[in-house]
Amino acid sequence: MDRKESDVYLRLDPARLPKHIAIIMDGNGRWARRRHMPRVAGHRAGVASVRSTVETAARIGIPALTLYAFSEENWKKRPRTEVDFLMRLLCRYLKAEIKTLNENNIRLEYIGRKQELPESVQREMEEASEATRANTGMVLTLALNYSARSEIVDAFRSLAEAAARNGGLSHFQVDEQLISEHLYTRHLPDPDLVIRTSGEMRLSNFLLWQLAYAEIYVTQTLWPDFRGVQLLEGIEEYQSRERRYGGLGRDPGQAHDHAKARPHAEAKR
Ligand code: FPP
Repeated sequence: MDRKESDVYLRLDPARLPKHIAIIMDGNGRWARRRHMPRVAGHRAGVASVRSTVETAARIGIPALTLYAFSEENWKKRPRTEVDFLMRLLCRYLKAEIKTLNENNIRLEYIGRKQELPESVQREMEEASEATRANTGMVLTLALNYSARSEIVDAFRSLAEAAARNGGLSHFQVDEQLISEHLYTRHLPDPDLVIRTSGEMRLSNFLLWQLAYAEIYVTQTLWPDFRGVQLLEGIEEYQSRERRYGGLGRDPGQAHDHAKARPHAEAKR
């Protein structure tokens, strides 16, 4: 940890770290444009930010980190050359990073319709996640060809299929718990904190169900300039907020027993 990182880290309360952080990595194109470089140069530079963020998160003991790498819309709306570049970059990252992921005890997972990705990319993804499967530390999830609405559609399909296997429509059951159990993120807690870089105030079809109670932190920093220290600053801001889950605040004028009204009592702040 460098000096700047340790300064921010010392201000954090280690007992109240978020259990799951989700990041919308944005601003690669603008970073490149400001330097009169092609857009893909921004994506290439963004890999160093991924590396730094992942390592810092694992080192301070964040249990889960999810990165929005490519949305379903990215495939449809970006030039073929940029999409191909992103694919090659991802494959190179997966190959190069296995050693570091293992050294940091990080398990790699994915969310998104991966069956629609090129087969060569799917193979690379499978190899990398297989190589880290035994790791017991942080879960790093890459959202690839991901769309929250598609995820919810897939969850409902999966619930309907479960009912069909179980004797038909009269066995169709649905509640919040069941929907969560059929999402791609069934193995993860809901994010406590979502970070978006480059100043945009949108969720862009990212984890719409899971972010229901998340704190949102938007930084002006463009993704290629984002490093571990910016992650720690986001966590510091998160720790300064009071999470209410629809209950009342800590204001003494409203002194009710609001703790009982909160579903995640251990995370209240
Ligand atoms: C958004 O910037 C970024 C992306 C669509 C791709 C994210 C990819 C990386 C950070 C690199 C590879 C990832 C991994 C996991 C190795 P933008 O192009 O939309 O930026 P703009 O809004 O400034 O145009």
